[in-house]
Amino acid sequence: MSDQVTAIVLAAGAGTRMKSSRAKVLHEIGGRSLLAHALTAVRDVGAATTVTVVGHDREQVAAAVTDLDPTVVQVVQEQQRGTGHAVQVALDGLDEAPEGVVLVTYADVPLLQAQTLAEMLLEHRHAGSAVTILTAEVGDPTGYGRIVRDDAGAVQAIREHKDASDAERAIREINSGILAVDAAFLSHAVSTLEDGNAQGELYLTDIVAKAVAEGRPVGAHVLEDVWQTEGVNDRRQLARLGAELNRRTLEHWMHEGVTIVDPHSTWVDSAVSLARDVTILPGTQLLGATDVAEGATIGPDTTLRNVEVGEGATIVRTHGADALIGAGASVGPFAYLRPGTELGADGKIGTFVETKNARIGDGAKVPHLSYVGDAEIGEGSNIGAGTITANYDGVEKHRTTVGRHARTGSDNVFVAPVTIGDGAFTGAGTTVRDDVPPGALAVTAGEQRIMEGWVQRKRPDTASARAAAEPSDEETGTRE
Ligand code: UD1
Ligand code: MG
Repeated sequence: MSDQVTAIVLAAGAGTRMKSSRAKVLHEIGGRSLLAHALTAVRDVGAATTVTVVGHDREQVAAAVTDLDPTVVQVVQEQQRGTGHAVQVALDGLDEAPEGVVLVTYADVPLLQAQTLAEMLLEHRHAGSAVTILTAEVGDPTGYGRIVRDDAGAVQAIREHKDASDAERAIREINSGILAVDAAFLSHAVSTLEDGNAQGELYLTDIVAKAVAEGRPVGAHVLEDVWQTEGVNDRRQLARLGAELNRRTLEHWMHEGVTIVDPHSTWVDSAVSLARDVTILPGTQLLGATDVAEGATIGPDTTLRNVEVGEGATIVRTHGADALIGAGASVGPFAYLRPGTELGADGKIGTFVETKNARIGDGAKVPHLSYVGDAEIGEGSNIGAGTITANYDGVEKHRTTVGRHARTGSDNVFVAPVTIGDGAFTGAGTTVRDDVPPGALAVTAGEQRIMEGWVQRKRPDTASARAAAEPSDEETGTRE
């Protein structure tokens, strides 16, 4: 018997209850679409061929499938005539009839794990079954197909809710919809399906009774973890499953040695990677392909998307995307790292600082109240408080380059394109329009002028004038 696995992922349904212009299966939890979760599970179980059945919102769904995995075969089910029909269409879309086992899964069931599928496949092969059904015992089975067993407990049929008798509706073991089926049996069984049922559909589930009638063994893999069988039909279920996925992701990382101070206010996407002894403080979201190295501390109140954080770095109350933070670096509080920010080892992006497309070297510091965009700041340089790179001339963007170990004064404007050389200094309030050579001091602020008595003359009878007229504390000797 071939040990080949072919997966059929059903994704043609309408998703009306989402009330969305986006296809249901493209809604996301854990930073991945429902579809991506489903495709990941069948890929990880080792399916050699995967077929996706698309129908409703097919342009959107097909484009997403191609994007996720161009090797996935796509077939179109023009009319949704039932799950059995969907599988017929999928089999017709293959060049050759599949061998071995066919796994049928749904694109809107995101928590299903590859490991569950692997266990189910093992059981299926071990028992030599024609069909193995992934089932679960649920509190409220309304709407689901029920697993009908005989007195000895052998599975006899799946009865759809709408077709079930009262006695059958009392059964709490349900069909998750996920099946492993002997490929040869499937090809033959789906061609015999009929639509004489309450919904006038071709039910894939009817293949169970067919196997029983042919004397072929049918198995049920009962899953304790009901979450894995749950589908998303509306936004409430999307939020519920999203929260559960997050809880599982956090448990995984805590198990791997990550401290998560407040799991209730921490969100970590499925593709995020965290090393040991990372500490995540409350109110933190780590999204996309964010990767945090050992010993780093993130949060509180920080959102990072696709940010690589080096060993031992500290990121406090920060919003960042598509950025690299070096080992031992410090960011925030209240920093905004926009795409293309690269901070070197032991560097600092401090309080109320915005950066974009900026390389800030090892040990370099932008500590306070600055905007650094389209810039390169060399190793060990210090940028004074309140510095702005004026990168935009109204038409085009230009670059600012600051060399190594430069010391620029507070309240500077670097009018790009401009270069400040290695070891150069600038005075407070300098507007740097021309290049500053290495080792030079640049100042542009005018000399300070003093107009004695100006306030008494120009602003008489004001609090300022009175304050200026009073003898100081030191003169009256009233200091405490
Ligand atoms: C189906 C099962 C039911 C099971 C339930 C689990 C059948 C007949 N019934 O019920 O036993 O308890 O799932 O959720 O199989 N789809 C298509 N094309 C179609 C019809 C459906 O691609 O023509 C896809 C849908 O997009 C969805 C999946 O198949 O992903 C299941 O369809 P849905 O209508 O939700 O299943 P039910 O009929 O509720
Ligand atoms: Mg249906």
